[in-house]
Amino acid sequence: MDYITSILKENRVFYPSHEFSRKSHIKNIQEYSKIYKKSIENPEAFWAEKALQLDWFKKWDIVFRNDYGFFKWFEGGYLNVCHNCLDRNIKSGKKDKIAFIWEPESGESKSYTYEQLLKEVCKFANVLKKKGVKRGHVVEIYLPMIPELPIAMLACARIGAIHSVVFAGFSYDALKDRIQDSKAELLITADGSFRNGKIYQLKDNADAALKECPAIKNVIVAKRANNKVSMANRRDYWWHELVNEKGISDVCEPESMHSEESLFILYTSGTTGKPKGILHTQAGYLLFAYQTFKWIFDIKDNDIYFCTADIGWITGHSYIVYGSLSNAATIVMYEGSPTYPNPDRFWRIVEKHKVTIFYTAPTAIRALAKEGGDWPNKSNISSLRLLGTVGEPINPEAWMWYYNVIGKNKCPIVDTWWQTETGGILISPLPGATPLKPSSATKPFFGIIADVLREDGSKANVNEGGYLVIKNPWPGMLRTVWNDPERYKHTYFEKFGVYLTGDSAKIDQDGYFWIMGRIDDVIKVAGHRIGSAEVESSLVSNEAVAEAAVVPFPHEIKGQAIYAFVVLKRGIKKSEELKEELKRHVAQHIGPIAKPDKIQFADDLPKTRSGKIMRRILKVIAEGSTDYGNIMTLADPSVVDVLAKDRVK
Ligand code: PRX
Repeated sequence: MDYITSILKENRVFYPSHEFSRKSHIKNIQEYSKIYKKSIENPEAFWAEKALQLDWFKKWDIVFRNDYGFFKWFEGGYLNVCHNCLDRNIKSGKKDKIAFIWEPESGESKSYTYEQLLKEVCKFANVLKKKGVKRGHVVEIYLPMIPELPIAMLACARIGAIHSVVFAGFSYDALKDRIQDSKAELLITADGSFRNGKIYQLKDNADAALKECPAIKNVIVAKRANNKVSMANRRDYWWHELVNEKGISDVCEPESMHSEESLFILYTSGTTGKPKGILHTQAGYLLFAYQTFKWIFDIKDNDIYFCTADIGWITGHSYIVYGSLSNAATIVMYEGSPTYPNPDRFWRIVEKHKVTIFYTAPTAIRALAKEGGDWPNKSNISSLRLLGTVGEPINPEAWMWYYNVIGKNKCPIVDTWWQTETGGILISPLPGATPLKPSSATKPFFGIIADVLREDGSKANVNEGGYLVIKNPWPGMLRTVWNDPERYKHTYFEKFGVYLTGDSAKIDQDGYFWIMGRIDDVIKVAGHRIGSAEVESSLVSNEAVAEAAVVPFPHEIKGQAIYAFVVLKRGIKKSEELKEELKRHVAQHIGPIAKPDKIQFADDLPKTRSGKIMRRILKVIAEGSTDYGNIMTLADPSVVDVLAKDRVK
């Protein structure tokens, strides 16, 4: 792959300026190494010391315990995550500090101070209570990037309910599956959302999903788009009416939550089957999000931090809501598309709000770089002091553009590697300390022992690619897969007995990590995590399709895109219209992000004699290569040539 050959040749190094290092939390690589050594020699002492910065209703009895492969942190301790994000900051004098600046696509921004946010959260928490939501109940949230989204999450955290946020770009099947699996009884949604100046019919999607989710008894609808929607009698209620009802107070005492009670579920794709509900709990998750945000984003009181992720993904959970609020940061949240009305929307936002820290995904960087260097120059982006990237490998060309054109050669870039499961960043530079190599996520965070292993579990050599693993537990890690503890053990720990990330990586002579991408059947489309199995089952649910196999292929902007091999049912005619219809089908059922870019009709797929589809070979075909490896184990090796001949270019 081009990307891998180019990173193997990458040997440039960029150092933080003296000025930046002097003012940062961790000031040089020696300081990093010293703290790192201590943190892995005694992680419990390291994390216990950091945990004292949080507000506890009752201090913990024991820092860490391994309960037969299920890890527990700060047992016996009680706190409230919402209290730590809001009340704790207000108590320390930040009541009038801006917590969120909300930038809607239309541009009329609105801000909330910490005190205002707390009042909104409390009112909504009281609404939830009135609707019968209790500690330990699951609340499903299907909202666009509007203030009601973090307010709803924080309200759940305040009363001890477990939120399960579904990305608003997902469609009804994806929403239905998540509601059914989480067993929620209340759904929060909106009457629409804006993207590229168009209204998306969120409520229609919700209604379609709810037809198969009878357990949902209440739906709360935020008014965003003034869109005409149908409201089911005695099930659907308007958010603004409920919070303004008489008797809804703007005070709500936070529940005292045990460290290991559930905080949220977030569904993510795996190798097989339906998405799994990743469970995060209270204290460990909060502490990890708090500490990583503080040091990796080197947060200072006067920073304005803008993260372009959607809160519907883990990046938004940890670094728009919990990690950033617990640090009393001022956070810009943007509702719309990066190119609306023009490809300089992000830079306009940076200028408008004097953003100092900017965190985005490589796909956005590549897409905006492609628009040319002129767009960023139209705005004054000189307030920027630190840049970040997440979600997929960043190629050196994109990294250099980000560094030169956006960072003006003065802003360090933190290439942060992590996952939904890890809760927070595990491998990343510390901006004032770590010399940067373009495309390398550099070194593990404190308390994290990362390594690269071979298939047989032995340690890979320097610069040898292999399985990226994490060898020790950390406070922010997932606790289990919702309703499926066996899947948790099997997916993450069975292969090597230590946490298996699903990524391949190599470590260079300086101990720098180079992440090469997923090693399993997960595809990263524009940084979004899609399981090939989900797209395949969506395709097969179309009546024309007998069988489907989905693989990634390299894409200039999105990093990877989806290539689908489809076997039609007997008698169905192959046509370009049918390909378009199948793409639409996937977009309608799962969401536009899962739509295959290319579909190839096939009469047969490469299978082993036991009938297993060899995706490895399909991937080589989709990439346009002929490096198939051994194909003699196939039931019919001649299939390969036929498929390669018909490849969609
Ligand atoms: O493949 C890695 C990639 O994103 C995967 C995790 O996806 P998700 O759970 O959706 O979380 C994304 C946001 C944290 C990883 O297994 N990934 C994430 N960050 C990077 C990355 N790949 C390379 N470099 C990164 N910085």
